[in-house]
Amino acid sequence: MADEQVADLTGRRLGNYRIDGVLGKGGMSVMYRATDVRLGRKVALKVIGEHLGADAEFRERFVDEARNTAAIDHPNIVPLYDFGELDGMHYIGMRLVDGSDLASLISEGPMRPERAVGLLEQVADALDTLHRRGLVHLDVKPANVLVTKRESIKEHVYVADFGLTRRGATGHRTRGGDFLGSPTYAAPEHLRGEPLDGRTDQYALACVLYACLTGRPPYPGDVQSVIKGHLNLAPPSAARIVSSLPQAIDAVLAKGMAKDPGRRYDSCVALLTAATEALTSSRARETEQRETPQRGAQQWGNGQPQQSPRPPHGPRAGAMPGRPPAQRGPGPVPPPGYGSPAPEPGPAARPAPAPPYQQQGRNSQPSWLVPLLLGAVVILVLLLAAVIIATA
Ligand SMILES: Nc1ncnc2c1ncn2[C@@H]1O[C@H](COP(=O)(O)OP(=O)(O)O)[C@@H](O)[C@H]1O
Ligand SMILES: [Mg+2]
Repeated sequence: MADEQVADLTGRRLGNYRIDGVLGKGGMSVMYRATDVRLGRKVALKVIGEHLGADAEFRERFVDEARNTAAIDHPNIVPLYDFGELDGMHYIGMRLVDGSDLASLISEGPMRPERAVGLLEQVADALDTLHRRGLVHLDVKPANVLVTKRESIKEHVYVADFGLTRRGATGHRTRGGDFLGSPTYAAPEHLRGEPLDGRTDQYALACVLYACLTGRPPYPGDVQSVIKGHLNLAPPSAARIVSSLPQAIDAVLAKGMAKDPGRRYDSCVALLTAATEALTSSRARETEQRETPQRGAQQWGNGQPQQSPRPPHGPRAGAMPGRPPAQRGPGPVPPPGYGSPAPEPGPAARPAPAPPYQQQGRNSQPSWLVPLLLGAVVILVLLLAAVIIATA
């Protein structure tokens, strides 16, 4: 539909912009790679077609998108450069992110957990900032997360596409009442047209985390199956799909994807902190156990909020044998956050292994000192007794 409605402007000039190529095509607009010839700067230019620009509702949404993009100054939100109308076409100019989007990365298969949380904690921070400003993104999905390698070591992430972003708490629909956006990562309250807030984005972020870790969205299939999954099915287990994942991550995903927003984490960053902890503490535990089996089992098995041990069909290399008995969550699929919130790893859950060198330091007196002191005491007592006897 969009393809017929929005013509390809590649090779054309739009004001001071030279259109160099297409970056992506959405339902209502085309994202171009372009050059601002005044500044000699590469930009990303989002353009909507003339006929869509004539539609008052659509034009309003596009203005909102520009304002919302500009509203937040955050290192992980794509910076807005320009906004306007040229030759009857509305456009938004923004920083060109040289890299790819998360959807392309996920299409290559499951991502390394460290990489996934490294990317998504940046998204989480951007979203929390948005939420503190009273905005809800409402279209958090891999295609709207841009990944660039700004430095050689760390991949930098930009959250993009504020086309559905809303201030306030009502479900986002067209005036005709249609759901806008894709349901693949949409929270139940969003699909139902109920009030929304930052937790709606958190749900989508948990789904994106699931997709990064497993290479597929939590509820795949046709639109009806996807919607049914979000509304009625328990959050699926990521550890069952990728056997090297610790089971603890399932509890975190289940809480982020709780059907009831009240049972989710307090913030997107809290979700990512819990995910990082679930993924890294189990990795540390594995290393610990490989090196010193008994000590490792004792230290890490203490007070970790965990789900039940892996069911009989699912043991695998790197599972956590030192885990305490199950507190909750008896089945292979973790319980939905709905009705039985998953345990949130808190500060008390953090393992604090005492380095062995501390104990050595505390008991470091020379071994001959104690007998020497004892001998001196005995001699003194004998001398005292001799004096008493002599004077008696
Ligand atoms: N600033 C940017 N730099 C580079 N590529 C971008 C940029 N913004 C978006 N894209 C790419 O273009 C695609 C469509 O852009 P987006 O703003 O999400 O439009 P739509 O509303 O059509 O989804 C994105 O999925 C991404 O791959
Ligand atoms: Mg998009």
